[in-house]
Amino acid sequence: MTLVGVGLDLVDVARVEQLLDRYGDRALRRLLTPREQDYCLSLAVPARHVAARIAAKEAAYKALVQGGARRVVWWLDTEVVRDPGGLPSLSFHDRARQSADELKVSRSLLSLTHSDAAAGAVVLLFR
Ligand SMILES: CC(C)(COP(=O)(O)OP(=O)(O)OC[C@H]1O[C@@H](n2cnc3c(N)ncnc32)[C@H](O)[C@@H]1OP(=O)(O)O)[C@@H](O)C(=O)NCCC(=O)NCCS
Repeated sequence: MTLVGVGLDLVDVARVEQLLDRYGDRALRRLLTPREQDYCLSLAVPARHVAARIAAKEAAYKALVQGGARRVVWWLDTEVVRDPGGLPSLSFHDRARQSADELKVSRSLLSLTHSDAAAGAVVLLFR
């Protein structure tokens, strides 16, 4: 496998809390797929998990751009999905899927972390 691109992003949990306080469901619907929303809202501190997903989407975008993608990608075009053990991975839709296909991406890897203060994500894309 050949590495196509890598992306890293860090998001302040307090900024996401402010966003959710101010715009509530509207912000959630704009940023997260229904599955992502359900998961985040099922947890004690949703903003942490929302922040992690925002970081994952930004990191995925950086990795696509590094690989040569030129398309605009919207928030809902990249989704964080979880296996039964909680391991996160990326699912690409629409414009992100088209970009990944153009770059011949065959595998993506995602790692997430969060603390009280911030959430981070790393994405690796392989062809
Ligand atoms: C899964 C585990 C690694 C998460 O670590 P953590 O420090 O509690 O949590 P972090 O904030 O760094 O990361 C949380 C994210 O980890 C991800 N995660 C969950 N399960 C995972 C798994 N099995 N593998 C990789 N990532 C996982 C999730 O994406 C989660 O975020 P989300 O709930 O918003 O999706 C941890 O709970 C665990 O099981 N550790 C096992 C202990 C151990 O054996 N340690 C070895 C030391 S060498």
